[in-house]
Amino acid sequence: MSWRHIAAAWVLLASAVATPAGAQASKANAGAGNATATRPAGAAAKAAASNAVYAERFHNVCAECHGADGRSERVGTPVLAGQHSLYAITQLFLFREGRRTNESMIALAKTMTDADLRGFSDFIGTLQPIPAPAPAEAPDAARMAKGQVLAQQHKCVFCHGANFEGGQGVPRIGGQKEDYLRSTLQGLKSGERPGYTRAMTEALSQVPLEDLDLLAYYAANFIAK
Ligand code: HEC
Ligand code: HEC
Repeated sequence: MSWRHIAAAWVLLASAVATPAGAQASKANAGAGNATATRPAGAAAKAAASNAVYAERFHNVCAECHGADGRSERVGTPVLAGQHSLYAITQLFLFREGRRTNESMIALAKTMTDADLRGFSDFIGTLQPIPAPAPAEAPDAARMAKGQVLAQQHKCVFCHGANFEGGQGVPRIGGQKEDYLRSTLQGLKSGERPGYTRAMTEALSQVPLEDLDLLAYYAANFIAK
């Protein structure tokens, strides 16, 4: 991919990426609109065929780590169920460029064409959110209350939504795995994980390191109202 293509991809995606979740249509509504009202019949059939191809590839290649339904149970491996296709494509792109560092993901993304990035992301966008399995013990009420205050104070909810559901280029973080949230927040703050936009670098610049674990705990145990 030449720098020209990269620049074009940025322009194409960037506008939608940092839109606050509150300003976006819900995932369910957006999905229904695409499939029925706005797409001509031929395009809908083509999208369904492509989705079937990437569903199969997902089950053969990705499910081993991310889970058949997208609810990963592996340490360090994010849940993809309920994640948004635009967010997914920005991250697959960053892996393909080697800017987000994870050996397995980079190796896989390097083999992907632009159509593959789109196909896998569109498929991920069809995976419905699955709540985390009930924890053995109820989350600590005092830590949850403190996490809620931090999330308000640092405006996490402004972009990620009151229910942490995200939207478009902003990821769903409610019910994401705590270990993954902890390490990825540390990476976003230190710059080890570069963002597709500067949104998170700026959002975390005022958050003390010791509060990241509490935010991870809060988001992982968050139950949508
Ligand atoms: C060997 C295990 C493994 C396989 C196979 C794998 N992944 Fe991943 N994936 C990971 C890990 C681990 C991460 C998190 C890396 C990090 O911490 O930055 C990740 C991250 C991601 C992310 C970013 C999610 C987020 O919340 O930021 C996407 C999207 C993704 N993978 C899609 C895929 C797709 C599509 C496939 C199949 C083509 C796949 N993965 C196969 C382990 C795997
Ligand atoms: C200005 C909007 C904005 C604000 C405020 C914001 N975020 Fe984000 N967040 C984003 C975007 C956009 C991404 C996608 C990262 C990228 O650009 O590659 C993201 C990514 C993340 C991720 C990575 C999720 C994944 O699956 O890998 C976590 C975790 C996260 N944000 C948590 C938070 C927390 C906690 C706060 C509050 C301290 C916060 N965010 C504030 C926009 C925002």
